[in-house]
Amino acid sequence: MLLPLLFSLAYSRKADGAYGEQHGCLPMETKLPYKWPFALDILKRQYDVLPSQRLLAFQSRYFDRIGPNMKVMLFGQVGYMTTDPKNIESILSTHFEDWGLGSRRGGLFPLLGEGIFTQDGRPWKHSRELLRRQFVRIQYQNPKVFDQHINELINGLSASGDGVVDLQPYLFRFTLATTTDLIFGEPVGRLGDDLQDTFSDNFDYASSISAIRLRLADFHWLYKPRKFKDACAVVKTYASHFVSQALETEKRHGPDSNGGHAFILDLYKDLNNPALVRDQLVNVLIAGRDTTACLMSWTIYLLVRHPAALERLRRDIAAVVPETDDLTRAHIAKLSYLKCVLNETLRLYPQLPVNIRVATKTTLLPSGGGPSGTSPVLIRRGTGVGYSVYHMHRMTSLYGSDAHEFNPERWENTGLEKKVGWGFMPFHGGPRICLGKDFALMEASYGIIKILQTFPNLRLPPGIQKEATGQERQNLTIVVASADGCKVLLR
Ligand code: HEM
Repeated sequence: MLLPLLFSLAYSRKADGAYGEQHGCLPMETKLPYKWPFALDILKRQYDVLPSQRLLAFQSRYFDRIGPNMKVMLFGQVGYMTTDPKNIESILSTHFEDWGLGSRRGGLFPLLGEGIFTQDGRPWKHSRELLRRQFVRIQYQNPKVFDQHINELINGLSASGDGVVDLQPYLFRFTLATTTDLIFGEPVGRLGDDLQDTFSDNFDYASSISAIRLRLADFHWLYKPRKFKDACAVVKTYASHFVSQALETEKRHGPDSNGGHAFILDLYKDLNNPALVRDQLVNVLIAGRDTTACLMSWTIYLLVRHPAALERLRRDIAAVVPETDDLTRAHIAKLSYLKCVLNETLRLYPQLPVNIRVATKTTLLPSGGGPSGTSPVLIRRGTGVGYSVYHMHRMTSLYGSDAHEFNPERWENTGLEKKVGWGFMPFHGGPRICLGKDFALMEASYGIIKILQTFPNLRLPPGIQKEATGQERQNLTIVVASADGCKVLLR
């Protein structure tokens, strides 16, 4: 029994060695140092930093000290961390077929079930094609679809009094409404305030536990509290309610004339199973809701701390969008400074800051090996590679000595996007690139313009401490949010 196993192990090591030699691979010499057995001190240090809510700032020190590529030993297993654009391009694009999601599927399965975010290989390809069709349809949508929700947001803010207001929870409510409207065919808010709160509280809780499970990687099964199971069940019940409603409406009245339920009905036509449709909807909800809320929140957070940029954006909006006109895609396309502001925010706070892929076959990373750190590195099947877009976006070798500063002008007619290439990846790239990129940018632009038009005095309240970007307290779940919200004065 043991002999064939040893034989096969020896054979695959030999084959791996030959593959490495053929591609000029050299071992990675830069390593994350550790002192305790199984590198448990590394885990402890990360754990100790958690209460300060500055984990990403803490990890920056590793990259600053060691460089963009490092070998990590955890529990006796070899893994790698990288912020090197060449390696990120290889994982996400040129060697895409060699990588899978690893333990992500198990970590997210209780909430997301069988959907685009938990799948690899053929099932993922099928989901991707199915959902891509929905997003192509949406791409030409009139941004007026956001009107009702932005009006609710603005009415809420207008009623919030003259004191300091935290915009962040309002923005989360706004993107919950827009995303559920997009996928369910109606916003959860239409269920009434109490039911909306039940849905959103359970969704928030289930997402936050899912984020912890993701970080536990192969040990995600250790953490599945009863409350988490209940919260996942509540989210699924709500999503199922919308699926049944769409199917019943179609049965009774035929295909709906305004296409409100198109997302659900198209998915059902293909999947033919309400539970599978439900799962895909929850997958899109998790992908689209918090990411866009955080983009909007960080944008305003940064603008009120940089009054010159805020003033310039206000002037641009006033020049391009007459307040009496409907805001259109054409207006938004003309606001080139807004694009620079959004790019800069996405650079400093990419919404999926750190990610992981696991090699599904023996492959390589094109950079990081040997004494110069530029040779390819052999990656054996089953090896995990963490890649941090957050830290890559702050590399001075890519963005210059002011890489840690908010400077939207860096994107202005400088060809920077072309120059950095894979060094700017807020939506990733390659076959798994974000499907909601256009929707997110349109929604965020629309919302920010309307907020700035309605509140021309929006500013940072006096007495709020301005921390250097990246040094503020952050709430790290699946996305990265400001732990102190986005506090402003509106009037
Ligand atoms: C600022 C907002 C957003 C950012 C920064 C963002 C970023 C990303 C990133 C980095 C991925 C790749 C994840 C991975 O492969 O591990 C992704 C995937 C995805 N995003 Fe977004 N996203 C945003 C908004 C949205 C919105 C609004 C939607 C939908 C309404 C959406 C739908 C998706 C979907 C369906 C995927 C899965 C693609 C696949 O696996 O093939 N995203 N997003």
